[in-house]
Amino acid sequence: MALTDCKIVEFPKIHDHRGNLTFIESGRHVHFDIARVYYLYDVPGGAERGGHAHKDLSQIILAISGSFDVVLDDGHEKKTFHLNRSHQGLFVCPMIWRELNNFSSGAVCLVLASNFYDESDYFRDYGEFQSVVQGGAN
Ligand code: TYD
Repeated sequence: MALTDCKIVEFPKIHDHRGNLTFIESGRHVHFDIARVYYLYDVPGGAERGGHAHKDLSQIILAISGSFDVVLDDGHEKKTFHLNRSHQGLFVCPMIWRELNNFSSGAVCLVLASNFYDESDYFRDYGEFQSVVQGGAN
């Protein structure tokens, strides 16, 4: 899996004059089993989140409300995605460094994750991450 596998995923959207509805089924609209859901909210203006990579975890990141940017980096190149639609998510495969920034006021970032929280799955040091990916090891 590589940066080219990190793509925008479209989820079903049921249009309704009373308000739209989107649903996400584990293993169907998301090709991994969802083990955990978490969300970022009350993000102050100018704040940045992320700043790490995961060894094994796959994720889908959604802007449930508002907007923000996700900068993905495989240690060689970077790609920026602007998320601003509640029915779209960004699939992020393992071994990709991510930074989240440019949060709009009131933005909510929902994350669907393939596993439970495990601090040992993180690279939190960019230099360490880069030396592993550039060395070809995992
Ligand atoms: P972190 O993953 O660094 O947040 P972000 O990527 O959004 O900037 O996590 C921040 C803190 O929250 C850290 O102390 C770990 C804790 N945490 C959990 O306990 N469970 C979780 O599911 C997540 C995502 C984080």
